[in-house]
Amino acid sequence: MTLQIANLAGDGIGPEVVDQSFAVLDAVAPAVGLDYARTDFPFSAAHFLDTGHVLTDEDIATLRGYDAIMLGAVGGQPNDPRLAGGVIEKGILLKLRFDMDQYINLRPVKLYPGIDTPLKDKTSKEIDFVCVRENTEDLYCGLGGIMRKGTPHEVANQTMVATRHGVERCVRYAFETAKARKAAGYRGHLTLVHKTNVLNFAGETWLRTFNEVAEQYPEIETGYHHVDACCMFMVAKPEVYDVVVVPNMFGDIITDLGAAIAGGMGIASSGNLNPDGTGPSMFEPVHGSAPDIAGQNIANPIAAIDSMGLLLREVGRIKGNDAAVKAGDKIGAAVQTVTPNFAGKSLDRSGYSTTEIGQMVIDVL
Ligand code: NAD
Ligand code: IPM
Ligand code: MN
Repeated sequence: MTLQIANLAGDGIGPEVVDQSFAVLDAVAPAVGLDYARTDFPFSAAHFLDTGHVLTDEDIATLRGYDAIMLGAVGGQPNDPRLAGGVIEKGILLKLRFDMDQYINLRPVKLYPGIDTPLKDKTSKEIDFVCVRENTEDLYCGLGGIMRKGTPHEVANQTMVATRHGVERCVRYAFETAKARKAAGYRGHLTLVHKTNVLNFAGETWLRTFNEVAEQYPEIETGYHHVDACCMFMVAKPEVYDVVVVPNMFGDIITDLGAAIAGGMGIASSGNLNPDGTGPSMFEPVHGSAPDIAGQNIANPIAAIDSMGLLLREVGRIKGNDAAVKAGDKIGAAVQTVTPNFAGKSLDRSGYSTTEIGQMVIDVL
C-alpha cells in the first residue's frame, strides 16, 4: 500500500527543512519496504501574493485524498500590509486544522542527548514530557468583532470557545497518552493547564470534564496548574510534567517555551492529529518561516525531520502500515544519534548548514 503524502513546503525556511525531511525518508523507505509518494502543493504566502489564492474548499477536498500532510511553515515578511490580519496563517494553517478536524496538536518537549538547554542543572531526565494542545477551539475560532471602529469608544471582542465535545475528546486523548506512556515506563501523570481563576466559564467546562474523565483512569495521577505557574514550573522544575493537556492559545505559548528549554526552535516537532481518521493528519515543525534566516541554508532541519518521524509513526498506526511505523522509529532513533554533534553549540545557530545536518541523519540511516 502506497503512503500518499501531500507536501506543503510553504514559505521561507519551510522548503529548505522539509526537503531534508523527504531526503531522510528516501534514505529509510527502501530498507523497511515502505512505498510512498510525495505530491507538492504551492499553498503559501508567496503563492497568495502571486495568484491571490490562499486555500479553497476545492483544495481541501483534494488534500482529503492523502494519507498525511507534511507542512514546512507558512508566513511572509513581517509587516507586509498585503498579509495583515493573519490572512495566510488563518487561511492555510488554521483552515487545515479546523477543516480536517485535527483536534489534537501533539508537541513533545524532550531534551535530546547532547543538546544544551538554557536551564541550569537540567538534563534529559528532567526535560521529557508531551503537550497535548487542543487544536480546533478556544481563541482560535475567529469569533468576535470590533464595534464603533475608529471612534474613541472602539470595542474589540475576541471570543474563547470551549465545547463539551471538543474538550472531552482532547482530554480523553491526553489520558490515553498518559496511559500509553505509563506502559512505556513513564510516570503516567497528567496535568491540566488553564487559568480557571480568571477564565471562569471556559475554565469550568475544562476542569469539570477533566475531573469526570479522570474517574475512568484511576491508574493515571492528575494535577492542575494555572498557565502562569506552568511557565514558571517549565523553567524551574520541568520534571513535574509527564503529559500536559492545555487549551489552544495557552498551548501555543507554552510549546514555544517548551521548544526553548529543549534547546531551540530547530528541534521542536509537532503533529496536528485527527485521531478518528476522518481526515488526514498534518505534521510540521513548531517553528515558523523564519524570514530572518531564509535562503541561507542555515536553518536547522531536525524539527522537520523529527516531524516526518512522527508522521510515519502516527499515520502508520492509524492506517495499520507497519513499514511506516518502522521507518518512523528509525528516523526518531537516527535524530537522537546525531544530536550529540550539537553539544556545546547553539542548536539554532550551530554553524552546520541545513543540508549538512540532513546528511548527518542520512549517514546514520
Ligand atoms: P519563527 O519560528 O519563524 O522564528 C523565530 C526565531 O527562531 C527566528 O529568529 C528564527 O530565525 C528562529 N528559528 C526558527 N526556526 C528555526 C530553525 N529551524 N533553525 C534555526 N533557527 C530557527 O517565528 P516568527 O518569526 O514569529 O514567525 C515568522 C512567520 O512564520 C510569521 O509569519 C508567523 O505567522 C509564521 N509562523 C508559521 C508557523 C507555521 O506555519 N506552522 C508557525 C509559527 C509561525
Ligand atoms: C503554531 C503557530 C500557529 C498557531 C500560527 C502561525 C497560527 O504559532 O503552530 O504554533 O498559533 O498555532
Ligand atoms: Mn506557535
